Amino acid sequence: MSEKLAATKSRASWKGKWGFILAAAASAVGLGNMWRFPYLAAKYGGGTFLITYIVLVVTFGFALMMAETALGRMTKQSVTGAFSHFGGKFAFIGILAALVPLIITPYYCVIGGWVTKYMVSYLTELPSQIAADGYFTGFILSPGPDTFLWMLVFVAVVVIVVSLGVNRGIENLNKVLMPVLILMAVGISVYSLTIPGALEGLKYYLIPDLSKFSAELVLAAMGQMFFSLSLAMGIMVTYGSYFSKDDDLEYSVRRIEIFDTAIAILAGFMIIPVSVAVMGSAEVVATKAGPGLMFGVLPVVFNDLGVAAPILGFLFFLLVFFAALTSAISLFETIVSCIQDFTHCSRTTSIILNAAWVVVLGIVCNLGYNAWLGIDPMYSIFGIGAYQDHQILDFMDFISNTIMMPVVALLTCVFIGFVIKPQTIIDHVKTSSAFKGEKLFTVMIKYVAPVFVVAILIAYVMNTIGMIQL
Ligand code: PFF
Repeated sequence: MSEKLAATKSRASWKGKWGFILAAAASAVGLGNMWRFPYLAAKYGGGTFLITYIVLVVTFGFALMMAETALGRMTKQSVTGAFSHFGGKFAFIGILAALVPLIITPYYCVIGGWVTKYMVSYLTELPSQIAADGYFTGFILSPGPDTFLWMLVFVAVVVIVVSLGVNRGIENLNKVLMPVLILMAVGISVYSLTIPGALEGLKYYLIPDLSKFSAELVLAAMGQMFFSLSLAMGIMVTYGSYFSKDDDLEYSVRRIEIFDTAIAILAGFMIIPVSVAVMGSAEVVATKAGPGLMFGVLPVVFNDLGVAAPILGFLFFLLVFFAALTSAISLFETIVSCIQDFTHCSRTTSIILNAAWVVVLGIVCNLGYNAWLGIDPMYSIFGIGAYQDHQILDFMDFISNTIMMPVVALLTCVFIGFVIKPQTIIDHVKTSSAFKGEKLFTVMIKYVAPVFVVAILIAYVMNTIGMIQL
């Protein structure tokens, strides 16, 4: 909802803390958990990535989510207003945060299109065809309009939901579908462990190998944490602004973190062991894992299931589709209200502008996989980012998750740690409940997180341009 609207309507509140937890969870649980986490964990050393991720979530993630939601509840403004509430010169932090969804949404919709395609394929094709080698690459690399059209279908569904204003209905539906998705993921995980070779993958996923540790791994885990918990992009500030002043913020933040992380870990169980089984070894998985991982390996599991394969394949991708839809809606809503706040245009104009932006950038992402494939990247910054096979989708993901979100997180920490001071947030949290993690919060926001972000960014850049070897 836009600030203008909120100001005139006296801001609506979530009903009870569970209203907030469920709404935030609907935004948090999406492709980040099912698609992004497993391929990053597979790529960055399995157990080493898993441990790094968990440590980051309970320390840095906790502090940042507390900071963002409290900032929202305290100011009763969405992200741009929340920062400028403390002085116009801080507005740029909010603006930078609000730019992140602009980059994420187009490629989120491209992946949403892949999910839609797979969902429909289970109705129209044989599971063995979908599981065949080269099915996925044939799809994304084909020069025809295929990938583009599936993205359009996904964007169309999002636009329809957002313009009809039935978002809450979809969120409610998701509350029913999410437990089914979890049950299915558990079933698939257990089954996939019976596939020969999967146990090696399980070990790779669960047992950390310290030699795999690197600055790039930490940065990837940090970017994934922001992406998955919807942090460092203004979303949680806006959500916090609807949070009732009597409910327990810390309790809610902890619940969202546990829920979101548990689902990501579960998705890893579902995908990583079977990837190792299908690709032959953990080493091959580490070199080959990328955005296509989920789409390449899960159909192999479904195909194994005989007569049930088409139903299970369809149901699974339908559930992922809904998880992606609720997240895409919250991304869309954020941009739509920002465009409205800035341009004072109507909601319809804002939705059209946003949809046009998403479609144009989505086409660019798709071209990166086919027509523009192999063209030298004009889109790397001093060679940083070019390591990602010159894919535009990867590059947009890299710019937002590895560069912009850490910078927004850093600015937020410095702003809270040294401008408004952690005590302001602590006092606010304590207006409604105790704050058990008060000390952790202060130390993280003021010292550990900012130093950590700067150090890791510097180490990563130096490593990439070859100045140090990590
Ligand atoms: N957290 C979502 C996911 O993990 O898929 C992605 C996301 C959704 C980010 C909504 C931001 C957002 F507003």
